[in-house]
Amino acid sequence: MGSIRWAFRCSAWTPSRSEWLLAARCIQKEEKDRIGQFMFAKDAKSAMAGRLLLRRFVCERMGIPWAEIRLERSPRGKPVLAAPLKVRSDSDESWSFNLSHQGDYTVLAAEQGVEVGVDVMKTTMPGSSSVPEFFRIMTRQFTAYEWSVIQSAGSEQKQLATFYRHWTLKESFIKAIGTGLGFNLQRIEFHLPGEPLTQNQVLRQTRMHLDEEEEENWIFEESLLDASHHVAVALGLQDTPGSAALPSSLPSPTPFTLLSFSELISSASPLTEEDPAYWESFRMKAEAPQRQRDTSTST
Ligand SMILES: CC(C)(COP(=O)(O)OP(=O)(O)OC[C@H]1O[C@@H](n2cnc3c(N)ncnc32)[C@H](O)[C@@H]1OP(=O)(O)O)[C@@H](O)C(=O)NCCC(=O)NCCS
Repeated sequence: MGSIRWAFRCSAWTPSRSEWLLAARCIQKEEKDRIGQFMFAKDAKSAMAGRLLLRRFVCERMGIPWAEIRLERSPRGKPVLAAPLKVRSDSDESWSFNLSHQGDYTVLAAEQGVEVGVDVMKTTMPGSSSVPEFFRIMTRQFTAYEWSVIQSAGSEQKQLATFYRHWTLKESFIKAIGTGLGFNLQRIEFHLPGEPLTQNQVLRQTRMHLDEEEEENWIFEESLLDASHHVAVALGLQDTPGSAALPSSLPSPTPFTLLSFSELISSASPLTEEDPAYWESFRMKAEAPQRQRDTSTST
């Protein structure tokens, strides 16, 4: 099983004119247009990094020349490879991949032979409400057991960290199965191990219960990109007749590798002409909404 975990720190990227214009030339036109419509630079940068991460992965690990890669989306928005359908690969197992962007990072996880979903979240204090009020609004997203674990974690900061840990776990599963918003989150319940999640480790002990039964065919890899960013990767098998079981012994988990912009673009080749107006529009964007800028400085 091949395994890729890449992260790009968007918040530390202040693109120069030439970087932004080159990046825009190296992605599909409809994605360039979508990214151009974001109001804030933060969102445009994280979505751009996502497209470059995806194409770099498909080019370098699936062996498809950059210019031949055609990415589309499933009806519910999950990026999929549309062309070329026949790909060179070292193994017969097909790759699955997924992206997430939130807080300071965009991340990509890819895996061979299983479905993959990834989610990253920054532990931020809620902008306009207290922690208890924020939790009240979120009541229905977690089960009574999960709330008991979150609310007994200690200080408000620790409760929030435990909350976001559960959040990334749930989202990673939703994203692996690709259903998006339609899934009833009460059907899944996470059981964390006693061991705390610390930096520089990948925890694989968390178990998921689906409809009150422990799932054997899903594993979850949890890690911290830094002190305030949780990331969860869901790896599993869709429940289809005749599908195989997860191998009983898995290779050690792969930690996330932080890429620089030059690494992100290293295999890229331009697909479209340079568009100077695209830079003019980008440089006029504010980094983020004022409220987010205030919140990020207070954590
Ligand atoms: C897409 C979804 C699954 C996650 O969105 P999100 O958490 O806001 O965003 P993330 O940054 O983690 O992921 C966005 C990326 O996921 C990918 N994606 C989009 N739709 C997807 C889907 N149906 N399945 C898997 N991945 C999807 C895309 O690559 C997207 O980035 P891009 O549009 O720039 O290419 C969305 O359906 C959602 O918002 N679900 C929320 C469910 C919920 O209520 N959660 C509460 C807490 S548990």
